[in-house]
Amino acid sequence: MKVFVYIGSPRGEESTGYQFIKKVEEHSKTLRNDIIFDIFSADKLNIKESDGTGKEFITGNTIYDDDMKIIEKSLLSSDFIIFLSPVYAHNISGQAKIFIDRLSYWLHIFRLIGKKGYVVSVSCNNGNDLVNSYLTEVMQFLGIYVLGEMSIETTKINSDDVLNSYARFLAKKIVISQEESDIEIPYTQEKMFEHQKLTHLKSEIYSKEKQFWKENNYFDYNTFEDLFKSRMKV
Ligand SMILES: Cc1cc2nc3c(=O)[nH]c(=O)nc-3n(C[C@H](O)[C@H](O)[C@H](O)COP(=O)(O)O)c2cc1C
Repeated sequence: MKVFVYIGSPRGEESTGYQFIKKVEEHSKTLRNDIIFDIFSADKLNIKESDGTGKEFITGNTIYDDDMKIIEKSLLSSDFIIFLSPVYAHNISGQAKIFIDRLSYWLHIFRLIGKKGYVVSVSCNNGNDLVNSYLTEVMQFLGIYVLGEMSIETTKINSDDVLNSYARFLAKKIVISQEESDIEIPYTQEKMFEHQKLTHLKSEIYSKEKQFWKENNYFDYNTFEDLFKSRMKV
């Protein structure tokens, strides 16, 4: 089982988010020794900002030869995906936003369908809700079934034990997720599917996105839940 993690903190090993994920990795390995974590931390990444042309929506390929290429490969080959961001001014970090902007061209094609995921935000003591709901929405547009959100408020963590208990909780979720086939897709994600299906069906113009929908038989499904279940690895 492979777990992809994006950490949007520029603080590297000093980051609470990074330290938390290392604990999640450690606990997950005690539950399942063949689990692999592919961790991408913003401080070590070379990801250029979107150039604003939207070329990638047309070509279906990322615009620069930078670390997004390795990230895309890792995302596609993972079973479980975690997006983690620090809370900056009640929002995600600039680094996390650049990363998401570069993935935007996957949002109309549910490119990561069949995978399960989790959202984590790290703040001092406020702003987590906004970050969690934004990251959840992004993940849902990517086709991921979001199992939950976690808010870490550093002022409430007064010992290593507290962070460890959060980490144990998430590790269990990750390991169990592989066996869980009883999923219930949220209404919001069904609506995203319905809206995009209609838009593509109505459009008579050739587009890479519509071609992707056709090639992957998305139009054959009436609900996102049925489509998701057909792609789920159990
Ligand atoms: C630019 C900036 C803005 C921040 N804004 C908030 C905020 O709105 N709410 C909050 O509770 N903490 C805020 N913080 C504190 C961080 O969320 C906190 O330090 C957190 O631990 C960062 O995650 P990290 O340790 O993984 O880097 C901010 C920190 C910075 C540097």
